[in-house]
Amino acid sequence: MREARSLTRQAEDFFSAHPGVSLLALGSGEHAEAMDLSPLGLPATYLPAERNTDLVSQYLALNQFAFRGIGVPRWVLSDLYLMPGAIGLLRCPARMLKPDVRQHLGLADEDPAIGAAYYAAPSVTPGLFIGVSLLSFLPGTGAGAWVKLLTLSMLRAKRLRGVAQWDNPSVRVHTRLGPLRLVGRVPGGHEYGERTFVYESDLTDSTRVARAMARELSWVPTRTIAVTDLPELSSLLDRAEAGASVYLGPPGVQNGQVQLSEG
Ligand SMILES: CC(C)(COP(=O)(O)OP(=O)(O)OC[C@H]1O[C@@H](n2cnc3c(N)ncnc32)[C@H](O)[C@@H]1OP(=O)(O)O)[C@@H](O)C(=O)NCCC(=O)NCCS
Repeated sequence: MREARSLTRQAEDFFSAHPGVSLLALGSGEHAEAMDLSPLGLPATYLPAERNTDLVSQYLALNQFAFRGIGVPRWVLSDLYLMPGAIGLLRCPARMLKPDVRQHLGLADEDPAIGAAYYAAPSVTPGLFIGVSLLSFLPGTGAGAWVKLLTLSMLRAKRLRGVAQWDNPSVRVHTRLGPLRLVGRVPGGHEYGERTFVYESDLTDSTRVARAMARELSWVPTRTIAVTDLPELSSLLDRAEAGASVYLGPPGVQNGQVQLSEG
């Protein structure tokens, strides 16, 4: 099998293809030294949230714009994002943003803007992070997958548990990091519980992640289920919760069908 280009080469190609985009981390100044600010060998800048309140406000506005009714409340942003951890950001000139987002923020062409952002919360299990918010306003560039991977790399994450909806384009983004092991439903429930699942990504094999990022991971689904077939997807989660080995593999969803391997 042809070797996929290394993650570093792929990341360099992403930044070369999008001049003006740079990688930042925004969190309590306390955490700067704990982060890897050379993720995959690329440069990242740590901005202490205490001294970058304009950027914090822009993130808050973008999160609430993207997630509408379940956008992050300000106190949650402070207490549960910025105090325990750091948000990974791709910054770019505002002219690169989707027009509706730029208009929402009222930015001029060359104003600095958040093009994409990812937050994963630290957990009590060493190496395990919990994916919380993925945003991207640079459609068609792959920014969602890159901000996610680079943020997890800055956090030195080994495993990720995340929450997604079957019908959200983010499922395709998540499988850029490799097959998702289905865990089950969200502990404690979720606003969109009937179409939501918890998955886990293993980030320890960088060669496999590189293949998945390049969409060169060979993975054959054993079955597919329509994103709209909620009863069938619900019984799939029952089996995952009962301990069955169920994976959702690249490219995630194809023509409205969830790509699965079970057993
Ligand atoms: C989800 C989100 C982060 C994706 O952003 P992105 O990575 O920049 O998006 P892209 O344009 O690169 O698209 C990502 C993938 O979804 C596919 N896609 C995009 N829009 C789609 C749609 N409406 N339906 C199906 N697939 C779609 C793209 O083809 C691409 O797939 P590929 O890379 O495998 O070819 C962005 O749309 C967003 O911020 N949405 C609002 C917030 C949200 O829902 N976050 C996810 C929470 S889990």
